[in-house]
This record gives sequence, structure tokens and C-alpha cells, in this order.
Amino acid sequence: MPMLEIDNFGKQFTSHQLGTTRQAVSQINFSLDKGQFIGIVGKSGSGKSTILKSIYRTYLPDQGSIYFHSKRFGRIDLMKATERQIIYLRKHEIGYVSQFLNVMPRTTARQLVEQALREMDETEETVRVEAEKSLAHFELDPSLWDTFPNIFSGGEKLRLNIAIATVKKPRLLLLDEPTASLDQQSKLKVRQVIEKLKESGTTLVGIFHDIEFMENLCDKVFDMNTRQLALLVGDVHEG
Ligand SMILES: Nc1ncnc2c1ncn2[C@@H]1O[C@H](COP(=O)(O)OP(=O)(O)OP(=O)(O)O)[C@@H](O)[C@H]1O
Ligand SMILES: [Mg+2]
Repeated sequence: MPMLEIDNFGKQFTSHQLGTTRQAVSQINFSLDKGQFIGIVGKSGSGKSTILKSIYRTYLPDQGSIYFHSKRFGRIDLMKATERQIIYLRKHEIGYVSQFLNVMPRTTARQLVEQALREMDETEETVRVEAEKSLAHFELDPSLWDTFPNIFSGGEKLRLNIAIATVKKPRLLLLDEPTASLDQQSKLKVRQVIEKLKESGTTLVGIFHDIEFMENLCDKVFDMNTRQLALLVGDVHEG
């Protein structure tokens, strides 16, 4: 059974102020098996983030279906899931890394990673150990662990964001340009974690500008310009 099936998905935005409706994306179809990784490519404004936000239900999708194979709920249409179900899925099964760090104020980096682990009902010992492992893995300087992330650099914020999302080893992980502002060394760290997550069975959807980074890591590439799967990274349409 596929882990994620996007079936004729589309999303419109209505501006009540302007009295207009715009179709942001339409006719998106792809499916992913457990442990597969799909990369989404396409020009700016083509609706890549809208797809991710609709899977995570930050946006309420309005056309088609998005089926997720949940451990708790079985095959569930994320467009029709209740708010309670979505809250449960975000806590336990679906992770999301946005381009921007959007976390609780006055909470330290360490506390944020620990909170994520606690939501998974881990023991306090595991919470402490795993949080430090994750912060160290993404090479956040230990002097930053007990400070508030609003002082972090762009790359440090992004690495913290990735640590928070991956420490839970979600069943499905959504990555919106997770390497955009990172140097080569940090990009490799992200790659390593993606490889590990894949091995442990996590299914991933990622948006990347850096196509080279995805090579040998992605199982499929979805090209927004043609609305089709590109067989090889080299086949991606320049648009
Ligand atoms: N909340 C929103 N309200 C209205 N329009 C929106 C909203 N979110 C996205 N859009 C519109 O939907 C279209 C697709 O936006 P989206 O952010 O998905 O593009 P993208 O492919 O991720 O672009 P980029 O590569 O620049 O991040 C854009 O025209 C955008 O203006
Ligand atoms: Mg985007």
C-alpha cells in the first residue's frame, strides 16, 4: 500500500478583499511507497510549497485527494481528516521543515528539541540523550544549546529546524528547501540524516533548488513545469 497518494490535487486562493480567485496549483498526481523520497522541482511561484502545506494541512486543500497511510488511522484522506486527527498526525507521524524557523518564543534550542521528543512519549533519559545527539549531529555549537534561537544565524536556525523535525523520526517528512541557506558541509549533514531516515523507513517529500544535492538520494522527481515525473534528475525541464 502506498504511504502517500496525491490524486488530482489542486488548490485555489480566494481574496475576499479583491473578490478574486486564483488557481495556485492543479492536476498534481504522484504516489510514494514507504521509505521513498520524491523531490519537487519547478520555478518560483509554481506551487511547490502549496503542495507541502496542503499535505501538512496548513492550507486546506480544495480539489482532489491526499491519502496518507497512517499507523494510527489507516488510509486517511488528509483533506477530510478532522482537526484532532491532524493534531495527532503532526505530533506523531508527519514532520514538516519550513524555510523559516517558527518556534515558541523564550524557549531554548535544547528545550525545543526535547519538547519534540516528549511529544513522542519518550522517557526523560532518552529525551535528554537524543536531544543532545541531534544538536551535536547538526553541529550546533554547544554554547548555543541553552540560548534562544532568535539570535541564531539563518543557517543555524535551519539546522535547528531540521533537528526538531527529524529527532522524532516521523513516518512522513516534508522538507521545504531545507538546504537553501546552508554551506556544503551542513548540506552533507542534512543528506546523511535523510539517508538514515530513509533506511529506517521514513517517506520523504522535498523541495530543492539544488538538483545536484538530490542525485542518488531521490527515488522520483516531480517537475511542476510539466506536472509529471521526470525519470532522471537530468530530465528536469528548465523553465
Ligand atoms: N496563503 C496564500 N494566499 C494567497 N496566495 C497564495 C498563498 N500561498 C501561496 N499563494 C500563491 O500560490 C502560488 C504558489 O505559491 P507557492 O508558495 O506554493 O510557490 P513555490 O513554488 O513554493 O515558489 P518558491 O519557489 O518561490 O518558494 C503563488 O502565486 C502564490 O502567490
Ligand atoms: Mg516555496
